Amino acid sequence: MTDKSIQENDYYDPGENRANRVRDLFDRIARRYDLINDVQSGGLHRWWKRTVIKEAGDLQNKTALDICCGTGDLSFALAARGAKTTGLDFSSEMLSQARDKILGKQPEADTVLPEFQQGDASELPYKNDTFDVVTMAYGLRNLKDWKLGLAEMHRVTRPGGRMLILDFGKPPNPWWRSMYFNYLKLIVPVMGWSLVGDAEAYRYILTSLQHFPAQRGIEAAMIRLNCRHVRTRLFLGGVMSLNVGVK
Ligand SMILES: C[S@@+](CC[C@H](N)C(=O)[O-])C[C@H]1O[C@@H](n2cnc3c(N)ncnc32)[C@H](O)[C@@H]1O
Repeated sequence: MTDKSIQENDYYDPGENRANRVRDLFDRIARRYDLINDVQSGGLHRWWKRTVIKEAGDLQNKTALDICCGTGDLSFALAARGAKTTGLDFSSEMLSQARDKILGKQPEADTVLPEFQQGDASELPYKNDTFDVVTMAYGLRNLKDWKLGLAEMHRVTRPGGRMLILDFGKPPNPWWRSMYFNYLKLIVPVMGWSLVGDAEAYRYILTSLQHFPAQRGIEAAMIRLNCRHVRTRLFLGGVMSLNVGVK
C-alpha cells in the first residue's frame, strides 16, 4: 500500500500477527461492544442487520452459520426465524457475551436458540456444503486473508444456499466518502476512548477499511467463486454495504 492517507494502527498488523492482534482487540472491547455499536451507528446497525435477515429468505427448518458472530446479534435473529443456527467466533470474550444472552432469555417451548462455537473463520471446522444460509457481519474486513475467508464461507454453503456479507462500505461519491472517513478518523475513536478507554481500538475501523476492497471487491470475488444472483446493496450512500449471492 502506498497511499499516504492510510492510518497506521496498533491493532492492524499486516503480517503473521494479524489475527492475534484482532483477537486481542475484540477480547478487550467485548463487554462494551454492543453499547458502542449502538452509539457509533445511532442504532442503525440494528436496521442493517434486519435487512440481512430479510435477504436471507425463508429460514424455517433451514441450517444457518453466522461467521464472526461476536455477541450474536445475527445468530439470535436467524434462530428466531426458525433456522438451526451456529454462531462461530475466535474471541472467547465475545462468545462469552453471546452465551450470557442465552442465559438471560426465558426458556419457552418454542424458543429456538443458536449454538455458539469457538473457531477460526479462515479454517472453518465444517464439511463442504453444510449450511443453507451463511452470514458474516463486520467480519471479513478483519481477516488476515479476506479472500480465503470468503472461499471458506463459500465452501461450507450448500449448493443453492445463500451467502450474505455485511460490512463497512466505501461510498462511491468522493465527497461523501471523505466526510465519512473523517467521521471514522476523528469521531469514532473519541467514542472508543470514552466508552472502552481505547481510542486505538476504534481507530482500527478506518485502517482496516482502507486496506479492504469493500463492496466492489467482495462482489467481484463472489462472481469469481461462481456465485449466482450476486447483488450489492448500499446503505446511506455506501457507508455500509451488503453483498448477497447464491452458491
Ligand atoms: C466487528 S465484530 C462483529 C460481530 C458481529 N458479527 C456483529 O455484527 O455485531 C467482528 C468479530 O469477528 C471476530 N473475528 C475476527 N477475525 C476472526 C477469525 N479469523 N475467526 C473468527 N472470528 C473472527 C471477532 O472476534 C469479532 O467478534
